[in-house]
Amino acid sequence: MEFFLDTADVDEIREIASWGILDGVTTNPSLIKKSGRDFKTVVAEIASICDGPISAEVTAMDTAGMIEQGLALKEALPPNVIIKIPCTPEGLAATKVLTAANIDTNVTLVFSASQALMAAKAGATYVSPFIGRIDDTGSDGLTLISEIMTAWEHYGITTKVLAASIRHPTHVLACMQMGAHTVTMPAKIFHQLMSHPLTDKGLDGFMKDWAEVEAAGKA
Ligand code: E4P
Repeated sequence: MEFFLDTADVDEIREIASWGILDGVTTNPSLIKKSGRDFKTVVAEIASICDGPISAEVTAMDTAGMIEQGLALKEALPPNVIIKIPCTPEGLAATKVLTAANIDTNVTLVFSASQALMAAKAGATYVSPFIGRIDDTGSDGLTLISEIMTAWEHYGITTKVLAASIRHPTHVLACMQMGAHTVTMPAKIFHQLMSHPLTDKGLDGFMKDWAEVEAAGKA
Protein backbone atom coordinates (compact mmCIF):
# COMPACT_ATOMS: atom_id res chain seq x y z
CA MET A 1 0.00 0.00 0.00
CA GLU A 2 1.30 3.46 -0.89
CA PHE A 3 1.27 6.12 1.86
CA PHE A 4 0.85 9.68 0.58
CA LEU A 5 0.90 12.84 2.68
CA ASP A 6 -2.00 15.24 2.11
CA THR A 7 -0.42 18.65 2.69
CA ALA A 8 1.53 21.51 1.12
CA ASP A 9 3.50 22.12 4.33
CA VAL A 10 7.12 21.32 3.46
CA ASP A 11 8.19 20.97 7.11
CA GLU A 12 5.62 18.20 7.59
CA ILE A 13 6.72 16.57 4.34
CA ARG A 14 10.39 16.68 5.37
CA GLU A 15 9.56 15.11 8.73
CA ILE A 16 7.49 12.20 7.35
CA ALA A 17 9.91 11.69 4.43
CA SER A 18 12.70 11.27 7.02
CA TRP A 19 10.87 8.16 8.30
CA GLY A 20 11.65 6.48 4.95
CA ILE A 21 8.11 5.38 4.17
CA LEU A 22 6.63 8.33 2.25
CA ASP A 23 5.49 7.32 -1.25
CA GLY A 24 3.97 10.58 -2.53
CA VAL A 25 2.16 13.84 -1.71
CA THR A 26 -1.23 15.23 -2.66
CA THR A 27 -2.04 18.92 -2.72
CA ASN A 28 -5.21 20.81 -3.60
CA PRO A 29 -6.05 24.52 -3.95
CA SER A 30 -7.15 24.73 -0.30
CA LEU A 31 -3.89 23.18 0.94
CA ILE A 32 -1.89 25.57 -1.28
CA LYS A 33 -3.84 28.50 0.21
CA LYS A 34 -3.10 27.20 3.72
CA SER A 35 0.65 27.05 2.92
CA GLY A 36 0.59 30.77 2.07
CA ARG A 37 3.16 30.12 -0.68
CA ASP A 38 3.34 30.45 -4.45
CA PHE A 39 1.76 27.35 -6.09
CA LYS A 40 4.53 26.31 -8.46
CA THR A 41 7.32 27.21 -6.02
CA VAL A 42 5.89 25.08 -3.24
CA VAL A 43 5.04 22.11 -5.52
CA ALA A 44 8.59 22.18 -6.95
CA GLU A 45 10.01 22.14 -3.41
CA ILE A 46 7.73 19.24 -2.43
CA ALA A 47 8.85 17.33 -5.53
CA SER A 48 12.47 17.81 -4.49
CA ILE A 49 11.79 16.34 -1.04
CA CYS A 50 9.75 13.30 -2.11
CA ASP A 51 10.57 11.23 -5.22
CA GLY A 52 7.06 9.77 -5.52
CA PRO A 53 4.05 11.21 -7.35
CA ILE A 54 3.18 14.78 -6.28
CA SER A 55 -0.35 15.80 -7.24
CA ALA A 56 -0.77 19.38 -8.52
CA GLU A 57 -4.38 20.34 -9.25
CA VAL A 58 -5.69 22.23 -12.27
CA THR A 59 -8.19 25.00 -11.58
CA ALA A 60 -9.72 25.49 -15.03
CA MET A 61 -13.31 24.26 -15.34
CA ASP A 62 -13.28 23.54 -19.09
CA THR A 63 -11.47 20.72 -20.88
CA ALA A 64 -9.20 22.91 -22.98
CA GLY A 65 -8.19 24.96 -19.94
CA MET A 66 -7.46 21.82 -17.88
CA ILE A 67 -5.32 20.38 -20.67
CA GLU A 68 -3.47 23.67 -21.09
CA GLN A 69 -2.80 23.96 -17.36
CA GLY A 70 -1.82 20.28 -17.09
CA LEU A 71 0.70 20.58 -19.93
CA ALA A 72 2.08 23.84 -18.49
CA LEU A 73 2.50 22.29 -15.03
CA LYS A 74 4.30 19.28 -16.54
CA GLU A 75 6.56 21.65 -18.48
CA ALA A 76 7.38 23.88 -15.49
CA LEU A 77 7.65 21.34 -12.68
CA PRO A 78 9.81 18.25 -11.93
CA PRO A 79 8.92 14.96 -13.68
CA ASN A 80 7.39 13.34 -10.58
CA VAL A 81 4.55 15.92 -10.55
CA ILE A 82 1.25 14.42 -11.72
CA ILE A 83 -1.87 16.29 -12.72
CA LYS A 84 -4.90 16.33 -10.44
CA ILE A 85 -8.17 16.82 -12.28
CA PRO A 86 -11.71 17.17 -10.89
CA CYS A 87 -14.17 14.37 -11.61
CA THR A 88 -16.43 16.22 -14.06
CA PRO A 89 -17.28 15.44 -17.70
CA GLU A 90 -14.76 18.12 -18.71
CA GLY A 91 -12.22 16.52 -16.40
CA LEU A 92 -12.78 13.09 -17.97
CA ALA A 93 -12.06 14.50 -21.42
CA ALA A 94 -8.92 16.23 -20.13
CA THR A 95 -7.81 13.01 -18.42
CA LYS A 96 -8.19 11.11 -21.69
CA VAL A 97 -6.04 13.63 -23.58
CA LEU A 98 -3.33 13.92 -20.90
CA THR A 99 -3.18 10.11 -20.54
CA ALA A 100 -2.70 9.82 -24.32
CA ALA A 101 0.23 12.24 -23.90
CA ASN A 102 1.74 9.85 -21.29
CA ILE A 103 1.00 12.23 -18.41
CA ASP A 104 -0.05 10.64 -15.11
CA THR A 105 -3.29 11.91 -13.59
CA ASN A 106 -5.18 11.80 -10.30
CA VAL A 107 -8.93 12.26 -10.75
CA THR A 108 -10.18 13.87 -7.56
CA LEU A 109 -13.47 14.65 -5.81
CA VAL A 110 -14.82 11.14 -6.48
CA PHE A 111 -17.95 10.38 -4.46
CA SER A 112 -19.47 7.37 -6.27
CA ALA A 113 -18.32 4.09 -7.80
CA SER A 114 -19.75 5.18 -11.15
CA GLN A 115 -17.55 8.29 -11.14
CA ALA A 116 -14.53 6.14 -10.26
CA LEU A 117 -15.27 3.72 -13.09
CA MET A 118 -15.65 6.53 -15.62
CA ALA A 119 -12.36 8.11 -14.50
CA ALA A 120 -10.68 4.71 -14.92
CA LYS A 121 -12.17 4.39 -18.42
CA ALA A 122 -10.66 7.79 -19.25
CA GLY A 123 -7.26 6.33 -18.28
CA ALA A 124 -6.68 7.95 -14.89
CA THR A 125 -3.54 6.77 -13.09
CA TYR A 126 -5.27 7.33 -9.72
CA VAL A 127 -8.86 7.95 -8.65
CA SER A 128 -9.43 9.69 -5.33
CA PRO A 129 -12.63 8.80 -3.45
CA PHE A 130 -13.13 11.15 -0.46
CA ILE A 131 -14.05 9.03 2.58
CA GLY A 132 -14.29 11.67 5.31
CA ARG A 133 -16.45 14.06 3.33
CA ILE A 134 -18.95 11.24 2.70
CA ASP A 135 -18.92 10.39 6.42
CA ASP A 136 -19.70 14.08 7.09
CA THR A 137 -22.99 13.71 5.17
CA GLY A 138 -24.13 10.82 7.39
CA SER A 139 -23.26 8.07 4.89
CA ASP A 140 -20.36 5.61 5.16
CA GLY A 141 -17.35 6.63 3.08
CA LEU A 142 -15.69 3.23 3.49
CA THR A 143 -18.62 1.57 1.68
CA LEU A 144 -17.55 3.51 -1.41
CA ILE A 145 -14.02 2.08 -1.20
CA SER A 146 -15.49 -1.41 -0.94
CA GLU A 147 -17.76 -0.84 -3.95
CA ILE A 148 -14.88 0.46 -6.04
CA MET A 149 -12.53 -2.41 -5.09
CA THR A 150 -15.22 -4.95 -5.98
CA ALA A 151 -15.81 -3.33 -9.37
CA TRP A 152 -12.04 -3.26 -9.98
CA GLU A 153 -11.84 -7.05 -9.38
CA HIS A 154 -14.63 -7.70 -11.88
CA TYR A 155 -12.96 -5.73 -14.66
CA GLY A 156 -9.22 -6.03 -13.96
CA ILE A 157 -8.81 -2.25 -13.88
CA THR A 158 -5.25 -0.96 -13.40
CA THR A 159 -6.13 2.57 -12.19
CA LYS A 160 -5.00 2.87 -8.56
CA VAL A 161 -7.59 3.62 -5.87
CA LEU A 162 -6.25 6.50 -3.77
CA ALA A 163 -8.37 6.74 -0.61
CA ALA A 164 -8.54 10.43 0.35
CA SER A 165 -10.15 12.66 2.96
CA ILE A 166 -8.86 10.35 5.68
CA ARG A 167 -9.89 11.49 9.16
CA HIS A 168 -8.55 8.80 11.50
CA PRO A 169 -6.29 5.72 11.61
CA THR A 170 -9.20 3.25 11.39
CA HIS A 171 -10.00 4.65 7.93
CA VAL A 172 -6.50 3.57 6.88
CA LEU A 173 -6.76 0.14 8.49
CA ALA A 174 -10.11 -0.50 6.77
CA CYS A 175 -8.66 0.61 3.42
CA MET A 176 -5.77 -1.86 3.92
CA GLN A 177 -8.24 -4.70 4.52
CA MET A 178 -10.09 -3.81 1.31
CA GLY A 179 -6.88 -3.61 -0.74
CA ALA A 180 -7.00 0.08 -1.66
CA HIS A 181 -3.72 0.79 -3.45
CA THR A 182 -2.95 4.14 -1.82
CA VAL A 183 -4.06 6.38 1.04
CA THR A 184 -3.38 10.09 1.38
CA MET A 185 -3.56 11.52 4.86
CA PRO A 186 -2.46 14.44 7.05
CA ALA A 187 0.77 14.19 9.08
CA LYS A 188 -1.28 13.74 12.25
CA ILE A 189 -2.56 10.37 10.99
CA PHE A 190 1.00 9.17 10.19
CA HIS A 191 1.85 9.88 13.84
CA GLN A 192 -1.30 8.15 15.10
CA LEU A 193 -0.58 5.07 12.96
CA MET A 194 2.89 4.74 14.52
CA SER A 195 2.00 5.43 18.12
CA HIS A 196 1.19 2.69 20.66
CA PRO A 197 1.30 3.09 24.47
CA LEU A 198 2.75 -0.42 24.88
CA THR A 199 5.67 0.49 22.60
CA ASP A 200 6.38 3.55 24.78
CA LYS A 201 5.98 1.56 28.02
CA GLY A 202 8.12 -1.34 26.74
CA LEU A 203 10.89 0.98 25.54
CA ASP A 204 10.88 2.85 28.84
CA GLY A 205 11.33 -0.45 30.73
CA PHE A 206 14.16 -1.62 28.42
CA MET A 207 16.00 1.71 28.78
CA LYS A 208 15.73 1.71 32.59
CA ASP A 209 17.04 -1.87 32.79
CA TRP A 210 19.84 -1.07 30.33
CA ALA A 211 20.90 1.91 32.45
CA GLU A 212 21.35 -0.52 35.36
CA VAL A 213 23.36 -2.90 33.15
CA GLU A 214 25.63 0.03 32.21
CA ALA A 215 25.90 1.22 35.83
CA ALA A 216 27.05 -2.30 36.78
CA GLY A 217 29.78 -2.05 34.10
CA LYS A 218 28.32 -4.99 32.16
CA ALA A 219 27.39 -3.23 28.93
C1 E4P B 1 -7.13 14.53 -1.62
O1 E4P B 1 -6.30 14.52 -2.51
C2 E4P B 1 -7.61 15.74 -0.94
O2 E4P B 1 -6.57 16.71 -0.96
C3 E4P B 1 -7.92 15.51 0.52
O3 E4P B 1 -7.75 14.19 0.93
C4 E4P B 1 -9.18 16.16 0.97
O4 E4P B 1 -9.35 15.91 2.35
P1 E4P B 1 -10.33 16.78 3.26
O5 E4P B 1 -11.72 16.28 3.06
O6 E4P B 1 -9.82 16.52 4.64
O7 E4P B 1 -10.17 18.21 2.82
